Amino acid sequence: MGLFDGRVVIVTGGGIGIGAAHSRGFAAEGAQVVVADLDETAANAMAREIGGLAVKVDISHEESTKAMAKAAFDRYGRIDVLINNAGVFSALLPAKPWTEISVEEWDWVMSVNIRGTMLAARAVFPYMKAQGKGRIINTSSNTALSGVPFLLHYVSSKGAVISMTRALARELGDSGITVNAITPGLVSTDGVKTGYGQDKITDRIAARSIKREQMPVDLVGPAMFLASDASAFITGQVINVDGGQIMY
Ligand SMILES: NC(=O)c1ccc[n+]([C@@H]2O[C@H](COP(=O)([O-])OP(=O)(O)OC[C@H]3O[C@@H](n4cnc5c(N)ncnc54)[C@H](O)[C@@H]3O)[C@@H](O)[C@H]2O)c1
Repeated sequence: MGLFDGRVVIVTGGGIGIGAAHSRGFAAEGAQVVVADLDETAANAMAREIGGLAVKVDISHEESTKAMAKAAFDRYGRIDVLINNAGVFSALLPAKPWTEISVEEWDWVMSVNIRGTMLAARAVFPYMKAQGKGRIINTSSNTALSGVPFLLHYVSSKGAVISMTRALARELGDSGITVNAITPGLVSTDGVKTGYGQDKITDRIAARSIKREQMPVDLVGPAMFLASDASAFITGQVINVDGGQIMY
């Protein structure tokens, strides 16, 4: 018997990286997983692997997020959990002084990381409200806690995810929906390995209390806790998962 038997879990950005670990983890615990990703090929491959539903979505577009939620509901008849994971990750963004970030680049990062996170939540809201129960788990970053330089757009967007989590939790409590956020540290995804390289990974290991690489699967247990009945009375909170790098 799995922890999430009969539950329907949407994982945005579920095709690769941290999202892939969530897709696999929840499926292994019996969930019906909707792998929702801009990268259709990755979504299809993951859905095939775990026996889930692949949906192509661009979370920065409202109609696309509505279609994602509808596809999940049409297939499985409910939506229990949204793992709001998709984002423009910092390894894809060239680090630069804030004065050199173009308005277009700023708007792109914001349109995905904060507007997209909001739109995905808003798309699943009517279904969760009708059920009287739901779990929304947003993905921020520990860079929003430490204030990493030269990524002002990314760090600002992830700070906004924390503020949105708190404000939305207050609006959704009466609907039986909890909203929480996770702040990962530097996770050894393929994107980090190619975008940042081993030196950065080694630096971060040294800064942690638990001195090892952070792996995508390290995010899955905390997300499962927030998605489960065990966390029924927890909302508007931020769980920092970075091996004890930052303590606050
Ligand atoms: N990897 C890290 O070290 C790290 C650290 C802190 C926070 N995070 C956050 O965790 C999340 C996942 O990170 P990752 O490292 O797995 O990133 P990744 O780049 O490996 O994967 C991101 C996924 O999101 C999808 N995506 C991007 N834009 C999208 C859009 N507009 N609509 C739908 N899907 C879209 C991509 O196709 C991809 O599947 C991101 O929100 C990231 O900011 C990552």
